[in-house]
Amino acid sequence: MNTETIRDRKSVRTYEERQIPGHVMQQIRDFLNQDDNPFGVPIPFFILDAKKDGLSSPVILGANTYVAGKYKKQKNAEVAFGYSFEKFVLYATTLGLGTVWLAATIDRKAFEKAIHLEEGEVMPAVTPLGYAAKKRSVRENLMRKGMKSDMRLPFDSLFYSGDFQHSLKESDAGIWKTPLTMVRLAPSATNKQPWRAVTEGEKVHFYEVKTKGYDSKSTGDIQKVDLGIALCHFEIGAKEAGLNGRFLQADPEIPTAEDTEYIATYELEKSL
Ligand SMILES: Cc1cc2nc3c(=O)[nH]c(=O)nc-3n(C[C@H](O)[C@H](O)[C@H](O)COP(=O)(O)O)c2cc1C
Repeated sequence: MNTETIRDRKSVRTYEERQIPGHVMQQIRDFLNQDDNPFGVPIPFFILDAKKDGLSSPVILGANTYVAGKYKKQKNAEVAFGYSFEKFVLYATTLGLGTVWLAATIDRKAFEKAIHLEEGEVMPAVTPLGYAAKKRSVRENLMRKGMKSDMRLPFDSLFYSGDFQHSLKESDAGIWKTPLTMVRLAPSATNKQPWRAVTEGEKVHFYEVKTKGYDSKSTGDIQKVDLGIALCHFEIGAKEAGLNGRFLQADPEIPTAEDTEYIATYELEKSL
């Protein structure tokens, strides 16, 4: 999976009634068994059968397979979930399979029962898995229009240099241009794009700009999940740009607006 996979991925809500071949499902299982994240939070995944498990979503047509994941409540759990689940979404994209992150528009009770969700655990989101139909449903087209799913906020209103007073123009982004472009292409809940980044020399600091109502008991803080997705995309872009770095958490205490929370920093490895 690479920057092309990121560019190829689009949410899919209308599926062909076509079975996924056994050998492809085996590749999916193998991937899910080794999927990890930089925060070391275990994320168990479940492959579910819509008919057998009685699962449905009002926005999905034609899918019979779903993948769900969960975490035990702990530090960094939402960000870790976003990172791991998005890696799987991108892997599925390389296999020609369609997906869509679903946190709100699902029969949540049925999904939580199917994965035996326990006290202290959260299942932020699930995705159908299958082959995209040639034509999107009317409902899906309306949803995409309503959320402006094909648009993203301008580069220089998402990314900054040194502090939040100085916008970063794409043409000035230097080595960070590809990784930040990949962040900008990330999916997010209702396309709110809550990710912000501030570059500072060999570091990039990531922040969450919170929208009211996106942190609930059933989904956890879903915009932290969006941040995990952003970190996954950033890392893929960085690797492809030949950068070698890692994520760490050390708040640089850059002044932020209200409702903005520091999440993590990407730092280039010092060459010896
Ligand atoms: C964490 C998360 C939760 C989402 N929840 C839903 C949902 O409940 N229902 C839905 O139809 N789409 C959901 N989406 C999909 C977004 O609407 C979609 O990613 C966004 O509009 C951008 O479109 P794109 O994925 O095609 O780039 C969710 C996306 C994310 C990342």
